[in-house]
Amino acid sequence: MSKDKLWGGRFTQPTDKFVEEFTASIDFDKRLYHQDIRGSIAHARMLGKQGIIPMEDVLAIEKGLNEILQQIEAGTFDFSISLEDIHMNIEARLSEKIGEAGKRLHTGRSRNDQVALDIRLYLRDEIVAISAYLDMLIDALISQAEANLGVIMPGFTHLQTAQPILFSHHMLAYVEMCKRDKARMEDCLKRVNVLPLGAGALAGTTFPIDREHVAEILDFSEVTRNSLDSVSDRDFALEFIAAASILMMHLSRFSEELILWSTSEFKFVELSDSFCTGSSIMPQKKNPDVPELVRGKTGRVYGNLMALLTVMKGLPLAYNKDMQEDKEPLFDTIDTVKGSLKIFADMIREMRINVSTMRAAAAKGFSTATDVADYLVRKGLPFRDAHEVVGRAVQYCIENEMELKELSVAEWQLFSGKIDRDIFACITLEASVNARAATGGTAEERVRMEIERLKAGK
Ligand code: ARG
Repeated sequence: MSKDKLWGGRFTQPTDKFVEEFTASIDFDKRLYHQDIRGSIAHARMLGKQGIIPMEDVLAIEKGLNEILQQIEAGTFDFSISLEDIHMNIEARLSEKIGEAGKRLHTGRSRNDQVALDIRLYLRDEIVAISAYLDMLIDALISQAEANLGVIMPGFTHLQTAQPILFSHHMLAYVEMCKRDKARMEDCLKRVNVLPLGAGALAGTTFPIDREHVAEILDFSEVTRNSLDSVSDRDFALEFIAAASILMMHLSRFSEELILWSTSEFKFVELSDSFCTGSSIMPQKKNPDVPELVRGKTGRVYGNLMALLTVMKGLPLAYNKDMQEDKEPLFDTIDTVKGSLKIFADMIREMRINVSTMRAAAAKGFSTATDVADYLVRKGLPFRDAHEVVGRAVQYCIENEMELKELSVAEWQLFSGKIDRDIFACITLEASVNARAATGGTAEERVRMEIERLKAGK
């Protein structure tokens, strides 16, 4: 009958086989084994210290749990679907091993606060890992920016050539995004790092537990303040997936640029062969699979966010089994973000750039037109009038298939008498870039200062 179940007491019929499979989470929550054992040891120590269970039981529990840990890590632990989840798999094995003492472990807690604890412990470490991957990507971007300082590329708006910029400036734009992603992760960590254990099933426990002591053992900075909230809150996981979604959105935009920049039409960059694949039919192809996949995987992370928001939206307090559905989207998000960041950092490090193609592209599309307008403003023309003058000059160039820099002084003067020989020095690519020297601008000196600031960790 159901006597093999830890909750079998009030049941007379065995669980239907398919119901058992359908309701089990062991296939995916087994990855919480380490956190589950760590949490149980802390709980047992607290129960012992409070005199709720005997000290010799605590020792037996700790020893038994450590053996189970070793077995799981050695791959010799037999996970069972009929024991539903990681919590009951471990607890049942412990009782098998050490008898009575094992059965005392669950005193003063429930799986509801236990699972909340395990996820928080797990996510806490993963956020630290993701933060380190973000640092790797930031480093790779800064290295590229530093190694290629001075390289000019076209800056775009509407994907139309707008103004020349430094390639390094473009790389540092992604550094800013990554830094905000990191800050969001670290902020989320503050709300993850709160101990929920001690809430019991929903209302607290009748035993004289010491939650602060458990928090201290497990290195939590706070304990939750309301037992109902402790077992039903998944905001911390949602926040994490939301921050991960924004992070993936950044990687996806970058992917899109790398895909575009690797086309034969752009040819701005060359991704290393190890990040690309060929085509089975077209021998000339080298496809940017890695950025394409990262762009694609962004969709799964958004999907995970919607999935968990939707799971949570109608749930009455406190715990509901629906919440078991929190784990797969959370784990998938963690795996996807870590994988994408790791592969991106390596790809950026190995990316080669095509200096001459970028420069040639930056020279096209009348990219220095704004510089001519600014020149006229410095000569006393109101900006709107200057804009009009340059617009007409551009039109003239289009009709005559010329670039702005090819216009003679006489031709310039057809549009404004204020234009003189000194215009030529104003509309070189370097002049255009270096004129934008205020904080946040693309001038080489400014970008060099930014690189220094970032390298100093500021
Ligand atoms: N496997 C469950 C989950 O992940 C653990 C908590 C189960 N609690 C319960 N009352 N059924 O949510």
